[in-house]
Amino acid sequence: MLSDKSRRVVEATLPVVAEHIGEIAERFYEHMFSAHPELLDGVFNRGNQASGEQQRALAGSVAAYATKLLETPERTPEHLLSRIAHKHASLGIRPDQYQIVNHHLMWAIADTLGQAATPEVAGAWNEVYWLMAHSLIHEERGLYGARGVTPETVWRPWEVEKKFRETRDVVTFVVKRIDDRLVRTSLPGQYVTVRLRMPDGVLQPRQYSLTRADDGAHRQFSVKRVEGGDGRPPGEMSTLLHDSVDVGDMLTLSLRTGTSYSTTPGDRWSSPRRESASRRWPGCSPTSRRPSPDCRSRCSTRTWRRPPSRCAARWSMTSSNCRTRSCTSGTRTALTASNR
Ligand SMILES: Cc1cc2nc3c(=O)[nH]c(=O)nc-3n(C[C@H](O)[C@H](O)[C@H](O)COP(=O)(O)OP(=O)(O)OC[C@H]3O[C@@H](n4cnc5c(N)ncnc54)[C@H](O)[C@@H]3O)c2cc1C
Ligand code: HEM
Repeated sequence: MLSDKSRRVVEATLPVVAEHIGEIAERFYEHMFSAHPELLDGVFNRGNQASGEQQRALAGSVAAYATKLLETPERTPEHLLSRIAHKHASLGIRPDQYQIVNHHLMWAIADTLGQAATPEVAGAWNEVYWLMAHSLIHEERGLYGARGVTPETVWRPWEVEKKFRETRDVVTFVVKRIDDRLVRTSLPGQYVTVRLRMPDGVLQPRQYSLTRADDGAHRQFSVKRVEGGDGRPPGEMSTLLHDSVDVGDMLTLSLRTGTSYSTTPGDRWSSPRRESASRRWPGCSPTSRRPSPDCRSRCSTRTWRRPPSRCAARWSMTSSNCRTRSCTSGTRTALTASNR
């Protein structure tokens, strides 16, 4: 819970922080990457940085968290954090890295606000940051622990067993484990991060949704080619996966994460993923009555495919739409407990 003193300061400075969030985000990343260039080698997605997407996400979420803390001071808004923790866990983010982000974010806030950033103001925002950071570290520790990994061992080599074309611009990969580690069942809407070395030698991570119930040895995901144009270069990872990765090659994938599996028949997709998936896969709208063949192959969840075995008994088969089929609510506890 935020202290009374900090609460008053955050309340007074939230409008100015929110107003300058774009600038704070830009300065934060610039400052952090110049001190820690290694974070652009296998941790941060440089396509997102270059295209400006996501730049505001981190700094913006601190402001959003502060807003919620002010609205409901009696409880910390932990529900805002799950999605972030899952993304962090898919990238192997470590607790000690929170100090780095803290240092550069606080620097960017102070630098942007100038004289308005008194020690009192800096202290109050630092408190918000660490409330959030401790919750994230805690949840991430839980995610790593439940999967029996550490941040250093989330990455795992897989062999490409199959690669097939779904449509002109979508290919599907089936990868097979080459170690003894269990391949845990994924839940609808979950994803893995693929990490590949780019032609310039830099490691890059990208997320891909899992598209099939797992059989204990494989993962499957589909990749849409990102075309260039209008001054934008072609997507680097999707181009590499389409053109250069073939059957027999090795791919590095992280553990499966993602919070957007459905819980009740009326809540098949949580709204953020529902929006982003339908944006990402035109023709695969959550409202389409029947999926087109195109939609079927492109849908980023396991639509029209087998449900995970643990879920099968209670899997709702009522939906004919192009969307994730849902477990009934009673299944949720068992699923989350056994599949984290
Ligand atoms: C949770 C999640 C699940 C996802 N699931 C899937 C999935 O199932 N299938 C799928 O295909 N994708 C999925 N994605 C998207 C995927 O992770 C990648 O973002 C996508 O493949 C593009 O990566 P890329 O490396 O090819 O493109 P990038 O190289 O990252 O480029 C992305 C965009 O930025 C632009 N850009 C890059 N550099 C510059 C620059 N210097 N100047 C201007 N513009 C630039 C590119 O032109 C392109 O438009 C998912 C993403 C998330 C977050
Ligand atoms: C309190 C501290 C932090 C907050 C509030 C925060 C917030 C966020 C948010 C909101 C996202 C976007 C999530 C999504 O796309 O769903 C994100 C992604 C990410 N975060 Fe954090 N984060 C924090 C700490 C860290 C730390 C310590 C690191 C490690 C250096 C880190 C690395 C990343 C990376 C690599 C991504 C993915 C970004 C991309 O690929 O473009 N974050 N974070």
